Amino acid sequence: MRRMVAETRLDPADLILPAFVREGVSEPVPIGAMPGVVQHTRDTLRRAAVEALEAGVSGIMLFGVPEDAKKDGLGTAGTDPDGILQVAIRDVRAEVGDELVIMSDLCLDEYTDHGHCGVLDEDGRVDNDATLERYAEMAQVQADAGVHVVGPSGMMDGQVGVVRDALDTIGKEDVAILAYTAKYSSAFYGPFREAVGSSLKGDRKTYQQDPANLRESMRELALDLEEGADMVMVKPAGPYLDVLAKVAEAVDVPVAAYQISGEYAMVEAAAEKGWIDRDKAIMETLTGIRRAGAQMILTYWATEAARKLGSARR
Ligand code: PBG
Repeated sequence: MRRMVAETRLDPADLILPAFVREGVSEPVPIGAMPGVVQHTRDTLRRAAVEALEAGVSGIMLFGVPEDAKKDGLGTAGTDPDGILQVAIRDVRAEVGDELVIMSDLCLDEYTDHGHCGVLDEDGRVDNDATLERYAEMAQVQADAGVHVVGPSGMMDGQVGVVRDALDTIGKEDVAILAYTAKYSSAFYGPFREAVGSSLKGDRKTYQQDPANLRESMRELALDLEEGADMVMVKPAGPYLDVLAKVAEAVDVPVAAYQISGEYAMVEAAAEKGWIDRDKAIMETLTGIRRAGAQMILTYWATEAARKLGSARR
């Protein structure tokens, strides 16, 4: 009867798998702070995409990890047609075609030697407008590689509009934009820094949002929609369920939430110590995010959770 009257249901198709692919490795590299998650080789990424698809996951969000020597101040590897992310997009597209929605992180932090999401001005501060030009170029190379959806995640003002224009200019009107609308400056990104080998010193407070603010997110939301966002996202998920609920109520576009690296790590670490029931905790967090209003959830447990949901149904 509980099942019959449940107000919230999770379906494998609600889930999107974020995945890292590292340049120049022949074996997947485990990420210490995210047990069970790896930096994929090109080959194992293709396999992971197929596994996700077979489990019923609806999308994959790709992050590229270039060789250290290729990082520079401008994040050049991010706009190189043969850069690791572009190569990975092509690989995955060749493997799964249009069966799985292929998404890509559109941000410079994986490619810059200083680790910031944008280029810096002479005083070492992130230069919003100079960064937008880099994002426009990134959008075009990712679209040329065959991505279905780009996810501008750098929280620069005007990024959605610039990316939309850049895509339209090269005839990629059909590439959609998943806007990171409310992206908070969060401690829970910690493990991600290891995942992409980021050398960031300092923080992202000048461009990511203050965890204290909710109204500000509604303003970001209005701007993103005006600029042409096709879907919007709240990130992190767990500590911001109120933001998610408010965003979901306010819009008629699909709403996503990103259960980020630190949210994953907390559950895995507590479970490893035997302090919580891992499987129940995973499903409870996902159900909570869904209940709060997310239609899609980006989660590192996507494939595993989708398999469980599939076998529970049988
Ligand atoms: C930016 C980006 C980040 C994450 C996704 N895209 C890092 C940041 O903004 O600091 C974090 C994802 C996670 O922590 O799981 N390229």
